[in-house]
Amino acid sequence: MTGFELVERDGLGRLGRWATPHGEIRTPALLPVVHPDPERQTIPPREIRREFRLDGVITSSYITWRTPPIRERAERDGIHGLLDFDGPVMTDSGAFQQHAYGSVEVGPEEILDFQGRIGSDIATVLDIFVEPSAGPAAAAEGVRRTLERARAARARRSGLLAVPVQGGAYPELRLESAEGASPLADLLAIGGVVPLLEQYRFADLARAVLAARPGLAPERPVHLFGAGHPMVFAFAALLGVDLFDSSSYHKFARRGALMFPEGTVPLERIREPVCGCRLCGELPIEEMAGRPPAERERALARHNLFMCALEMARVRQAIRDGQLWELAERRAGGHPALLAGLRAVVRGARHLVAAEPVARPAFRAASPLSSLRPGVIRFLARVGRYRAGRGPYRLRDRVPLTPDGLRGVPAQAADGSPYRWECPTPVGPVPLELLEVYPVGCWVGPEEFDAPAAGTGPAEPEPPLTPEEDPNVDRVHAWTARQLAGLLEWQYGTDAASLAGPLRAERSRSTGRLRSASLGGSPHFLFGPGAVPRPTWLGAQALHRAVPYPGSRIVVDPDAAPFVAGGKSLFSKFVRGGDSSLAPEGPALLVDPDDHLLAVGRLLLAPFEMGRMERGIAVRVTAHARNPGTEVAEEAPPGYG
Ligand code: GUN
Ligand code: ZN
Repeated sequence: MTGFELVERDGLGRLGRWATPHGEIRTPALLPVVHPDPERQTIPPREIRREFRLDGVITSSYITWRTPPIRERAERDGIHGLLDFDGPVMTDSGAFQQHAYGSVEVGPEEILDFQGRIGSDIATVLDIFVEPSAGPAAAAEGVRRTLERARAARARRSGLLAVPVQGGAYPELRLESAEGASPLADLLAIGGVVPLLEQYRFADLARAVLAARPGLAPERPVHLFGAGHPMVFAFAALLGVDLFDSSSYHKFARRGALMFPEGTVPLERIREPVCGCRLCGELPIEEMAGRPPAERERALARHNLFMCALEMARVRQAIRDGQLWELAERRAGGHPALLAGLRAVVRGARHLVAAEPVARPAFRAASPLSSLRPGVIRFLARVGRYRAGRGPYRLRDRVPLTPDGLRGVPAQAADGSPYRWECPTPVGPVPLELLEVYPVGCWVGPEEFDAPAAGTGPAEPEPPLTPEEDPNVDRVHAWTARQLAGLLEWQYGTDAASLAGPLRAERSRSTGRLRSASLGGSPHFLFGPGAVPRPTWLGAQALHRAVPYPGSRIVVDPDAAPFVAGGKSLFSKFVRGGDSSLAPEGPALLVDPDDHLLAVGRLLLAPFEMGRMERGIAVRVTAHARNPGTEVAEEAPPGYG
């Protein structure tokens, strides 16, 4: 079994590389359905790779098998020869035809062996298609028989194998199916969902995928059978879908429909040049209706596939930028059914929280659902825990956490007891010292653009000073210390807060925000986006002393320890354990099994994925003994307009 390598991620959305015998598939990827009969292909597979820059295709081994002249050519020239395509070819098994026509005359073993004989890169088990409307007994039976066939198929095939996950509308069956498929499959293929896609039942689709989620091995790519409309790509990628297949581009073309990421438009309604794609540029879309049917169908199929390829590229770019949620929310604006689907995702947010990065470069509110993203859910839960045992907090207007902003904020009463302030944010009141934390620290929402113009609103009331208050108290210093302790506790737990005492914080001269915290002039922590305190080598040593094992740690296999100590990235297969509460993008102490500190790094994987991914990096080393990582970088440009 070959490994899937995670390159970049945004929550469950993954940018990956998957090696097949005919080259790599870069995910998320669409594998367009192509007909095995060259006479019946609207777009030749060769062009799919060259012109549309899609990595692979999927075709039906069953249709190939049951059509004698095609079957002979496939057996003679291989499926790549038949299709005249030298990239990755996945073959489906005929389960869908079985479902659509009632029966197929081929057995599971025969069709599996046939897929092997014709050289399929990724063969699919002949599963039992479980309808979303199936009753519990039929659904359970479908899951059981699919797994039985998958076990037999695994024993017969050493090449890549896709195992469908069935279970209909029953969450416990979806989970059971995913758990059973995981150890057998190279590709976990969520099936039985075509009716949901056709009927725009995206909330049911989200529930089906989320139910399977905990059972899906994180080291395997996930496929969603039949998802080929660009409007669902961002939504499905959010649920952790890596591969898509569909004949929609061709089917929609046949009935005169144009696909866009915002939805579907019938050709006859189009009177204006609404598409700027290459193909519509060649044959203006508003003139297409008058062309001969075959030409029109071909042109529409090309437009549709072009839109699919473009949207898939946008999904990948959004993952790189940490903007997949924004994209999915914007797409959900295209159809209420998608909005319903996204609402179901939000309700299942607990499945997504473990993969949530500690921070993203920005948080842009794109819809009313923005404040329910998993990053917000996790933030609010942790604010609740942070606040417990402290308090009471008093509410005041929001202040910028800069020297100018903090100067006016009383920090303590005359008796030395601290004033605890919280300030309103788009997700409710948040302790002042945490206002820079992701997501509230980089929240861009309509509120900011709807504030009264300066000087027109009521003047912000200066907080009254009690007579006991010492006007000479340096409030900025007091707040900076509080902020530092708060951020260290937020990231590393209560044991780390004590490190703040002797540290001296430095603020950016341009923005006034915390930049670093040093001891005797040597930086211990550098603050990244989301006010994450990232330790230098000195900071890591201090943290290692302050925070008991296994807190904030990833345990490195002894074989890899010397390399990690020398600054090399930690590969997933060398992870031996660690703190399961760590999150992607967050800092971690890298230690050997005897808890000797080797280095400090930044997580790419979530702890539940580490050690399971066979290929790729789990943690990038950011500082170690010989490279202490004390470069004080100016704030990274936000990268958002
Ligand atoms: N194509 C669309 N849905 C399915 C499915 O559930 N199983 C298989 N094998 N192919 C499909
Ligand atoms: Zn177009």
